[in-house]
Amino acid sequence: MRNAAITGWGMALPKQVLTNADLERMVDTSDEWIVTRTGIRERRIASPSETTLSLSLTAARQALDVAGISPLDLDLIVLATTTPDTFMPATASLLQRELGAFRAGAFDVVAACAGFIYAINVAAQFVRAGTLRTVLVVGADTLTRMIDFTDRGTCILFGDGAGAVVLQATEEPVGILSTVLGSDGRGACHLYVDGWGTGIVQDGNREALRRPYMKMNGSEVFRFSVRVIGEAAAAAVEQAGLSLADIDLLIPHQANIRIIDAAAKRLDLPRERIWANLDRYGNTSAASVPICIVEAVEAGALRPGMNVVLVGFGAGLSWGATVVRWGRDGVERVSGGE
Ligand code: ACO
Repeated sequence: MRNAAITGWGMALPKQVLTNADLERMVDTSDEWIVTRTGIRERRIASPSETTLSLSLTAARQALDVAGISPLDLDLIVLATTTPDTFMPATASLLQRELGAFRAGAFDVVAACAGFIYAINVAAQFVRAGTLRTVLVVGADTLTRMIDFTDRGTCILFGDGAGAVVLQATEEPVGILSTVLGSDGRGACHLYVDGWGTGIVQDGNREALRRPYMKMNGSEVFRFSVRVIGEAAAAAVEQAGLSLADIDLLIPHQANIRIIDAAAKRLDLPRERIWANLDRYGNTSAASVPICIVEAVEAGALRPGMNVVLVGFGAGLSWGATVVRWGRDGVERVSGGE
């Protein structure tokens, strides 16, 4: 049986911090409201010179270092993002160029905040089928570039960042154990970017493309998120042939601490078995799960033999969950993540 193990990991965050106090000066909000309603205290904002590609490159280089492989060992790069540097070509191709990974195929996956879960499962299928041996999976977003900083309903939530993992073929009983992917396009109207995409120039009006901003129905997305974290995590655990008692760590997409707490309650998982860092980074979209993976492994919370459930959810509406049996010890990162 060929498995797809995570053998390398890395992350990147912009240096610039935007605190709740900063937001108090920009919109009608308060630190107290943001902390109690979301759990977020600060987030990182890409500087003019930072992009989805540049953050991906830093995270990817670390992941290759940790895995101890060269860019030329990569067979494929799968990059999850909703904020690509360009519509065309794929940011994955630009990353391939910057890394010098010239043997690798490369493509982007668009599934918003579920993007990393989709991407790692696409990659794992190639490895488990025996088609490819070594795949780089990146989750990266610079959603703050699409945020209306006069809209207090969205601008308090999001931050920028990137995370990456290397998946490698192994005969060991570790790696991706199960895959649950879902979507409900009927909820597309609850979370979308307005002014970005060819659909809006049907009448030839390209002016409409100029101000892309995220629009969100927060309470609808909130209800959906609480439901799917619990359902998708439980389904992924069952598919892996495990029970929730076998789960050492849950890494959910970092959208809102109240969503995470409600899901934990539904799953009856104690808080110490759930990784949360959204107080420091907010919602980094496709980057949130791989950033949590890096932090958890470096903190010693993910050790060989442990079972971790990764869950993503967001625009689409879309969601995904996967159980991973951790295969290797943490190693010190060769270069800093920040
Ligand atoms: N500061 C102060 N007051 C605010 C703010 C703010 N930043 N935002 C909203 N309010 C007000 C509202 O206007 C409303 O006032 P009213 O009662 O006078 O009308 C009141 O606070 C309550 O508003 P709600 O929207 O009901 O607040 P809620 O508790 O639902 O929290 C939030 C809003 C934080 C957006 C929440 O709904 C949420 O987290 N939703 C999920 C969002 C999410 O996860 N999105 C990302 C998905 S991932 C992806 O794919 C990108």
